[in-house]
Amino acid sequence: MEYHLHEESPRVLVVDDEKVIREILSDFLTMEGYVVRTVEDGQAALKELQRRSYNLVISDLKMPNMGGLELLEKIAEGNLNVLTVIMTGFGTVETAIQAMKKGAYDYILKPFKVEEVVHIVQRGLDHQRLQQENMQLKEAVSIYKISEAIATSLSLDTILELILDATLEEVQADMVALWLQDPRTGQFEERMSKAQAGVETLPRLPGPNLDEIFNHYRLDRPLLAHGIKAHRFLSDPPLEKRLVSFCSIPLKVRQNVIGMLNVFSFTKGNKFNEGQRKMLAVLGSRAAVSIENARLYENLVDANLELTGANQSLAENFRQTIVGFAHALEESDRYTRGHSERVSGYARLIAEGLDMKDKEVETVVWSGLMHDIGKIGIRYEKLNKPGKLTPEEMAMFRTHPAKGKRILEPIPSMRDLIPGCYCHHEAWDGSGYPLGLCRHNIPLIGRVVAVADTYDAMTSDRAYRKALPHEVAVAELERCADIQFDPQLVEVFLKKIEEYRKRSRDAGIDIPR
Ligand SMILES: [Fe+2]
Ligand SMILES: [Fe+2]
Repeated sequence: MEYHLHEESPRVLVVDDEKVIREILSDFLTMEGYVVRTVEDGQAALKELQRRSYNLVISDLKMPNMGGLELLEKIAEGNLNVLTVIMTGFGTVETAIQAMKKGAYDYILKPFKVEEVVHIVQRGLDHQRLQQENMQLKEAVSIYKISEAIATSLSLDTILELILDATLEEVQADMVALWLQDPRTGQFEERMSKAQAGVETLPRLPGPNLDEIFNHYRLDRPLLAHGIKAHRFLSDPPLEKRLVSFCSIPLKVRQNVIGMLNVFSFTKGNKFNEGQRKMLAVLGSRAAVSIENARLYENLVDANLELTGANQSLAENFRQTIVGFAHALEESDRYTRGHSERVSGYARLIAEGLDMKDKEVETVVWSGLMHDIGKIGIRYEKLNKPGKLTPEEMAMFRTHPAKGKRILEPIPSMRDLIPGCYCHHEAWDGSGYPLGLCRHNIPLIGRVVAVADTYDAMTSDRAYRKALPHEVAVAELERCADIQFDPQLVEVFLKKIEEYRKRSRDAGIDIPR
């Protein structure tokens, strides 16, 4: 019998083969405001627990068909998220202890006082609530971390994937689909979907009923529905699998819905709750802004690909912006001023010495300009100090190739520059970073920039020492050829730099000592 149907009330299942006990407990707990159902043995209890979710089970120990201990085992096996309290009429504390070992929250000795039962139930539910809140706090922290990761990524696909993974992980959804509005047509389209590992994908994920969903969004009503009630939000409710829970989160930028995150559970007992929906809403609001930013990049990229006059200049603008960043970065520090430009010039000498094609030379030149772009994210003043870097500072410094790679990655026209940026601190003998590649496994442009970079670092003033004379730098490059540098490139560079210095001297241009 069910007396109360109020949604918020905790649900209690009473399991006892004695009708009197079922009725007494049901009456009293119902008076306390709980939703109570009763069944007569473990088997019936298990069925009921699989049909709908309960907060707490009070079960007798000895019953026909399935007793309390076996029920406890089944609950543990099925990962059913429910507290259990065992009643035992046999009064031995040993059986009670055995029940506690199998996962019971508490026990009640028969004959019991009703107030005692009410008290234990209350205590159990309080305990459960605290545990849930604690869990939600933990989830919130991890959502926060994920949103940080999303915010620092510029590639749309990476962002979408992070969002989908986070959603599957945080609410244990079976499937999730992300829909985005096509800015050109205004239509909403599925952009990416994913299933929980081990969940067999539906032949077709149900599409959203956009009218119904937007009615909810417009009124700012949370969209969380269970079972058959969720069907009205889907344009084609799933027939093959029973939908247990559905939640839809708007992705909004300045009050405009740019997309939606549709989350599905097909697993019995895994109903999403309001706390989880709120968490996804937080994730969604942060994700929306990142998606918008990444799309701005993509637009620039598309413009670049279309190569029409106007758009090309847009892409060119964008490139200039990045170059501007690189310059600003160097200008802010007297020790690095002009470094990238000089590295670029030296790298050009090597490229020409290798008889590269014009297009390749251009890539090398750009790679030289951009090689330290990853330092944008690093507190510079800290690193340009006299004296040695601490291990922490060193570790921070060493992140700049990977940071640079992340900056260049989302921009197709700059992707060719990644090897020079990402691999200019790799060493010929494999002792470099970030990957520890060796010899010809290091991309050629990375090897070229490494030589140019080191030569300029040696021949310009640094916070911790004066510039070294050209001859000293040459001797150092020769000494480190075959250890730190590709020996062939060192040879080419030294030949070309001597020619260059001679040409400059002949032309009366001032060159460093
Ligand atoms: Fe560097
Ligand atoms: Fe550098």
